[in-house]
Amino acid sequence: MSLFVKKSVSQLMADAGDSEKGLKRTLGSGALVALGIGAIIGAGLFVRTAAAAAQNAGPSVTIGFIVAAIGCALAGLCYAELSSSIPISGSAYTYTYATMGEFMAWIIGWDLVLEYAVGAATVGIAWSEYLNNLLTNVLHTSAIPYQWCHSPFEKSLDGVQGIMNIPAFGIIALLSLLLIKGTKESAFVNGIIVIAKVAIVILIIILGWGFINGANHTPYIPEAGTYTDHQGISHTYGGIMGILGAAGVVFFAFIGFDAVSTAAQETKNPKKSMPIGILGSLAICTVLYILFAHVLTGLAPVEFFRTTGKEASVAQAINTFMPGYGWLAQLVTVAILAGFSSVILVMLLGQSRVFYSMSRDGLLPKVFSDVHPKFKTPYKANLIFLGVVGAFAAFVPGDIVGDMTSIGTLFAFMLVCIAVIILRKTDPDMVREFKTPLVPLVPILGVIVCGAMIAGLGWTNWLRLGGWLVLGVIIYFMYSKNHSKLRNPDKS
Ligand code: ALA
Repeated sequence: MSLFVKKSVSQLMADAGDSEKGLKRTLGSGALVALGIGAIIGAGLFVRTAAAAAQNAGPSVTIGFIVAAIGCALAGLCYAELSSSIPISGSAYTYTYATMGEFMAWIIGWDLVLEYAVGAATVGIAWSEYLNNLLTNVLHTSAIPYQWCHSPFEKSLDGVQGIMNIPAFGIIALLSLLLIKGTKESAFVNGIIVIAKVAIVILIIILGWGFINGANHTPYIPEAGTYTDHQGISHTYGGIMGILGAAGVVFFAFIGFDAVSTAAQETKNPKKSMPIGILGSLAICTVLYILFAHVLTGLAPVEFFRTTGKEASVAQAINTFMPGYGWLAQLVTVAILAGFSSVILVMLLGQSRVFYSMSRDGLLPKVFSDVHPKFKTPYKANLIFLGVVGAFAAFVPGDIVGDMTSIGTLFAFMLVCIAVIILRKTDPDMVREFKTPLVPLVPILGVIVCGAMIAGLGWTNWLRLGGWLVLGVIIYFMYSKNHSKLRNPDKS
């Protein structure tokens, strides 16, 4: 049987419908937009905006946000068509199974680990930065020593070597255990956190606007060159490449709108609600991000984000450059800690849903789809990811896992765009409640813009993505190919 054996769309829908243990359809459009924003606004905005300004683009990080938003909107239009036509959990993995066949589906499912699992680790690391800020600036106690909240690959400006990021591991462990207990309760908590997050972002934009210092915005696009950080790593800084590099870095801030599609099987009227959930949450966040980045880079000079304001950057910038607004910095810290938790939760949830689908198809061991008899959650998968994601959070630096998340997700977006073009050809009569406009132009542009951001992320990240995919190919040929239910129907 060919490597590119496909699951038909009707077969996919039947499998999902069949499932006795089927997930319940309870979510409407509003809940989906909230779910999207819950997953979207997080470390990308509150930590990586400053990193992108410092390392890549200075104030022109706002243009980087616009480039990233265009890439996401193009991919989002493709996600909307696929998730409204094939409303099954598994997201990009499932769409690829139906369009490009099993091998590519495996590759994409494997690649999604970078988005969801490694993404959760990235936000866990950012959570740890803001925890320290909470301890010192809000509770006025002592901070966790540098070595116990940084990976062994990091060194402080005054030479302390990191050992393990304990708070990052702790939050991943806590939220994994919560997920095992069930997700219903978290929808309500998620709603409250979303309101708090959006309110804080709007408050910073409005109050911070008056403190923008024009000198920090001049020149708006720095001259092209390189910047070498205190660890000796050099980054392309300024000019067009700087903007593209920044787009690749802040792209992280948009990740999550696609997580809405993983909830397709739990949505009441997916054909209508999916496009609203995906594109609505994306549109709201884009406007907020551009304004927020404009204010943040106007408050502090780039040098600040390279040195003292590197960690917990937003709270530090408010404390330093908005005299009299210490309360806002404190509020931000508390809201951010809650906000990051909701992002981690959705990412861990997305990860377990994708592996659940892959395991049901036989491409991964059954342990990933074993459901807890009482809680009805894939608890074994959650425990495995507690260990794996926790290890990433504890022992790998935030910048590295952040860029790995971005590149992995960009790759997934490119495949989703291509899937739309293929499905239009192979299954032209399928009922499509939402149709991506201007096919094939929109998907092709999606591939180009996401590809440009991958280019901007630089060769170390291309190597990491390549290495990860090679590992995936080895596992496919050693395990998945022989256990696939589609290939070996007699085994199921
Ligand atoms: N978009 C999410 C964040 O920025 C992943 O934290």
